[in-house]
Amino acid sequence: MADISAHGNVTPQAVDVSELPPLGDEWRTENPYRGDETAIKVGDSAYNQNCARCHGLEVISGGITPDLRKLNDPDEFFDAAEADEWFMTRIRKGAVIDGRVYMPPFEGILSQEAMWAIRSYIDTRNFEE
Ligand code: HEC
Repeated sequence: MADISAHGNVTPQAVDVSELPPLGDEWRTENPYRGDETAIKVGDSAYNQNCARCHGLEVISGGITPDLRKLNDPDEFFDAAEADEWFMTRIRKGAVIDGRVYMPPFEGILSQEAMWAIRSYIDTRNFEE
C-alpha cells in the first residue's frame, strides 16, 4: 500500500445504481443480484473506484491486503451465501483495529445496491486464474 493514490481517488465515490432493482431498507444476507449482467457492470466500476486502491486492480491483491477472490474459493467458504455474509460484514463495518482504520466502513457511504453490485463483480473473478 505504498502508493495508495496510484489506483484512483481516495475519497469514496458515489455509485449510480439507478439501473438496478431497489432493495429497500432491510439488509439482505445473500446477494440478490448474483450473475446479473447489469449488477456486474455497475460493480466493476464501483470496485475500481472504491476498493481497487487497496485490494488491487481486477481483484488481484498485491499481497498486503486480503485477495478478495478468496470469497469464491471453496476451501475458504462453505458456499456463496456464507461468503456473502462475511463480505457484507466487512464492507459495512470496515476493519478498525485498536483505533486504526485499516479499511474504512462503507455503511452510509455506499448503498446496499452498490455493495451487492460489487459482490457480483467479485464473483466473476475466479480464484484459480
Ligand atoms: C484503505 C484500504 C482499503 C479499502 C479502500 C478497502 N479495503 Fe477491504 N480491507 C482492507 C484491509 C487492510 C483488510 C484486512 C483487514 C484485517 O486484517 O482484518 C480488508 C479486508 C476486507 C475484507 C475481508 C477479507 C478477508 O479475507 O478477511 C473484505 C470482504 C473487504 N475488505 C472488502 C472491501 C471492499 C468490497 C472494498 C470497497 C468497497 C474495500 N474492501 C475497500 C483495506 C481496504
